[in-house]
Amino acid sequence: MDGDSPLPADSKLYAALVDALPDPILVVAGSIRDDLTGRRFILANAAARELLRLKAQEGNLLSAVRDPEVLGAVDRALFDCADADGVYETTGAQSRSLRVRARSLGPGGDGVPLALLTFHDETEVRLVERTRVDFLANASHELRTPLASLSGFIETLRGHARDDPAAREKFLGIMQAQADRMARLIADLTSLSRIELDEHVPPRGVVDLALVVGEVVEAAAPLGAQRGVKLDWRPCAACEASVRGERDQIVQVVQNLLDNAIKYSPDGAVVRIEMQTGLTELAAAASHEGAPRLSLVAPDPSPQIYASLRFVDLGPGIARQNLPRLSERFYRVDGQKSGARFGTGLGLAIVKHIINRHRGGLVVSSVEGEGSTFTAYFPMAADPQGVVKAS
Ligand SMILES: Nc1ncnc2c1ncn2[C@@H]1O[C@H](COP(=O)(O)OP(=O)(O)O)[C@@H](O)[C@H]1O
Ligand SMILES: [Mg+2]
Repeated sequence: MDGDSPLPADSKLYAALVDALPDPILVVAGSIRDDLTGRRFILANAAARELLRLKAQEGNLLSAVRDPEVLGAVDRALFDCADADGVYETTGAQSRSLRVRARSLGPGGDGVPLALLTFHDETEVRLVERTRVDFLANASHELRTPLASLSGFIETLRGHARDDPAAREKFLGIMQAQADRMARLIADLTSLSRIELDEHVPPRGVVDLALVVGEVVEAAAPLGAQRGVKLDWRPCAACEASVRGERDQIVQVVQNLLDNAIKYSPDGAVVRIEMQTGLTELAAAASHEGAPRLSLVAPDPSPQIYASLRFVDLGPGIARQNLPRLSERFYRVDGQKSGARFGTGLGLAIVKHIINRHRGGLVVSSVEGEGSTFTAYFPMAADPQGVVKAS
């Protein structure tokens, strides 16, 4: 009987429908509680066959799944008519974590109890959840360290350093530095969450890259001068470097990359900042012959014309195996000193998200003991002929 259903009662159609469902589905039959080998799956859709590497639509359940949690859930659905959930983890290089749900379907045509087993991939959700938990733990830890130091010094100032003006001055200086560090952390955290919020909204403005770099370099000169680090920025006069972007965010990218280059430079070294325009691909030469190179942000695959900014330093460099982790939040290369100016470990994460939003690219190349080069790419607002490209 068709009733009012718009679908014909066509078993072929239903079979095709089940087979096309993206989530894996099994229908299991089993008549005797204690006869585990008697459980059979009588239907496995394409996704289930792929997940469990099954050759046929039906077969022995134990040949498909051996996980005790899943088998237990199947039993509860078959014999107790109860809903049961579990987790199924696949092994191998790319392990996945799937939520399994077993539901009773009642007795089949031959009176044998049937259960429906569905799998839903929750790997991404779990990863996001873990990232969030890790992030909170890291952020609290980073804040707790300077806070503990502040509390310690307050106690000292109230105690034995109370009447020692020299010690008091020294401790107040340290406390100021710790308070500054907390303020920087909070500023970076706020900035990061704001950037992430509108990461999917394309930036609207047009920014003159050379002008931005000029301003940031000028502002950073005193920081370099403290350690005798010279900033070598030579904009080409004829370069038209209008990029699509939000000015404040591009300033942040330049600030962070320049800040790192200065911070990790040895005293008295030169930091070079270079600009190129009209690039059709991310083909900037590495600063050193044969240096390991890694793209931290891959640009939009659609054809673009880019302007690039390279920050070349003569610092300690970064070992090849550490390159992929550079843009993780709070990641710092072990044992690397950043001088008096401690970082938050959030700078490159901020840079990454901003460049992502701008559909640009970020490439790092580095040789240990020789130096690092970070290159940021931004899509240009107009091609070299001055024709504005449609975005
Ligand atoms: N120019 C560079 N030379 C060497 N190491 C660098 C450079 N830039 C970044 N790094 C490494 O990457 C880590 C992450 O950078 P970033 O996110 O800016 O954090 P930080 O606040 O420490 O500067 C740094 O702690 C450092 O270990
Ligand atoms: Mg930094």
